[in-house]
Amino acid sequence: MAQAERRPEPAVGPRRASPWMDEFWVRRLQSLLGLIPIGAFLIFHLYVNLLATQGPTEYNTLINTLEHMPLLIFIEVFVLYLPILFHAAVGFHIVFTPELNVTRYPYGRNIHFYLQRLTGVIAFIFLAYHVVTLRLIPGLNDTHVTFALVQSQLRQTWILILYLVGAIGTIYHFANGLWSFAIHWGIAVGRRAQRAMAYVSAGVFVVLTLVLVRIVLAFAS
Ligand code: HEM
Repeated sequence: MAQAERRPEPAVGPRRASPWMDEFWVRRLQSLLGLIPIGAFLIFHLYVNLLATQGPTEYNTLINTLEHMPLLIFIEVFVLYLPILFHAAVGFHIVFTPELNVTRYPYGRNIHFYLQRLTGVIAFIFLAYHVVTLRLIPGLNDTHVTFALVQSQLRQTWILILYLVGAIGTIYHFANGLWSFAIHWGIAVGRRAQRAMAYVSAGVFVVLTLVLVRIVLAFAS
């Protein structure tokens, strides 16, 4: 009787421990923070700056009120900076781990999958510049952000380009993130629901980009 062919034993090496950033709850928390509070703040921030279209006096009055809100530093640290740093840290881990970057989506969404990662990096660079120049430096010098200060910056061509690329990239990242959020959380399960969500995300991108262009024109023109 012919002997059954013996398969060679699979080589078993030491199992690599999964980094904490790959834990299920960490990925879910990163995803949720992208929407609340980071995404919610993005919309609020654009809305506040839309007041620039009303003129310097109205804008300065509102910014002054916001700067004197009680517990402002507490809100900034716990509602903004820490959630963004957490989301970005896990985001960079995803971007730079090749196994986590195989395309997964059908229906021509692959390009959005890569743009989501690219715009995450763009958002990080832009937000770092934005916070340092309009929050950290004025704070350290004990000066206030005014319409004139923002205007003096946006009238320089390279800063204008940086703002358009950085802010539109950030808006894209948020709008497309709404689509992938709906998939990750089982909100858009079937093909029709996912297609409907793609329209919602495109609509959010167009509306927020128009708002941004209106704000930039109010300062730069
Ligand atoms: C204003 C800033 C930001 C907002 C509003 C934002 C929002 C979002 C949203 C809503 C999602 C979708 C979550 C999901 O798919 O379940 C997301 C995903 C993602 N974000 Fe951000 N994000 C911001 C900044 C960043 C930064 C700075 C990075 C750094 C690289 C980053 C990297 C990522 C990555 C890699 C994903 C995809 C996660 C995955 O595929 O599971 N994000 N973001």
